[in-house]
Amino acid sequence: GLEISKLLKETGQVTLDTGFVNTASCVSSITYIDGDQGILRYRGYPIEQLAEQSSFLETSYLLIHGELPTSQQLTEFTNRIQHHTLLHEELRRFFDGFPRDAHPMAVLSSAVSALSTFYQDSLNPFDDEQVEISTIRLMAKVPTIASYAYKKAIGQPMLYPDNSLGYVENFLRMTFGVPATPYEIDPVFVKVLDMLLLLHADHEQNCSTSTVRLVGSSQANLFASVSAGVNALFGPLHGGANQAVLEMLQRIQSDGGDVNAFVRKVKNKEDGVRLMGFGHRVYKNYDPRAALVKKAAQDVLGRMAKPDPLLDLAMQLEEIALADDFFVSRKLYPNVDFYTGLIYKAMGFPTTMFTVLFALGRLPGWIAQWREMINDPDTKIGRPRQVYIGYGQRDYAPIAGR
Ligand code: ACO
Repeated sequence: GLEISKLLKETGQVTLDTGFVNTASCVSSITYIDGDQGILRYRGYPIEQLAEQSSFLETSYLLIHGELPTSQQLTEFTNRIQHHTLLHEELRRFFDGFPRDAHPMAVLSSAVSALSTFYQDSLNPFDDEQVEISTIRLMAKVPTIASYAYKKAIGQPMLYPDNSLGYVENFLRMTFGVPATPYEIDPVFVKVLDMLLLLHADHEQNCSTSTVRLVGSSQANLFASVSAGVNALFGPLHGGANQAVLEMLQRIQSDGGDVNAFVRKVKNKEDGVRLMGFGHRVYKNYDPRAALVKKAAQDVLGRMAKPDPLLDLAMQLEEIALADDFFVSRKLYPNVDFYTGLIYKAMGFPTTMFTVLFALGRLPGWIAQWREMINDPDTKIGRPRQVYIGYGQRDYAPIAGR
């Protein structure tokens, strides 16, 4: 503490804010969060209204273009996306080169990065038409890439997109469909997955979005910037929490299902155990997305022939935590990830795909934030300062004398 403040005095103007807890990196008019009151709005519209009345593609348009589309604008946006869902055959062959047990997030980021090798005619960040076609290509091709990553992992043949289907239906069919076998798409899964993507679509300057902006601030193209965002989301402290929640519930179940014993462990901070899916850097109240996800989890899991006992464990955990002073005094509430994993599991996704689903949802937010950054005349290359704590000058020693 003291050492650092002395160093800061010596460096003059530099502010040390590890983890950017208090430092804004930009001005933005896309997403508003009030963490104390549990408010989230995209372009001014409350998340609850969008979740109930809008769709993922309409909300993507809203985030990217700033206004809700007219019906003609939405049709055009949707049609353009539908016409770009195919991957170049040579890009499709990339998948042959990855090992079969490759994590689908690693495959996704590599394939998104590779898009800038296929579309060299549209990489100019200052050409509006080129940015628009890159936007469409990303929105269209990322679901195809995501399902191919999954097919690759399970050794099944990849399915070409069926452009007569809606965005989410097409993704579900490419993921779970098998050639020459009829695949019935469950309309409840379509509706719920569409809403989950919408709920993840933007969350202002989180780690992956800040990464997209930082990479883009060097005027790197949209594909390069978004693939960096995918890599940032790969980390367990960011996109990986939904997987961690499910693993926690499975552990409680295999230990005999004693929820109170687990909560005691968390409160005693035994082995650093945390209640995964609880707490948030910004929300100090119920995450508004978590309330919507909880309802969806009850809808999806409630209609299964054999209910998943993990849902019951999750609801018990929440009830106990919300009535316990340890969690209440620290303002720890369920976050968006507390119930999503249960829904993805019920839909048939393996845990490694959970983070990919997060990426699919966050994509329009990354694009919208990149576009806002590139069009902001005040944007400067992101170049943080540092507080140097290494050696002062010392003289080079020839190798023989070390
Ligand atoms: N379980 C138990 N205790 C917790 C939890 C938790 N999930 N989260 C915070 N706490 C406690 C801390 O131990 C600390 O207590 P102390 O004052 O006695 O030391 C206090 O609450 C404050 O916690 P911090 O870690 O300082 O809060 P921070 O804002 O840095 O962390 C985070 C936020 C990382 C989300 C944290 O709440 C956490 O680890 N949650 C579990 C993981 C998770 O669900 N992540 C998903 C976040 S949402 C997203 O990325 C989409």
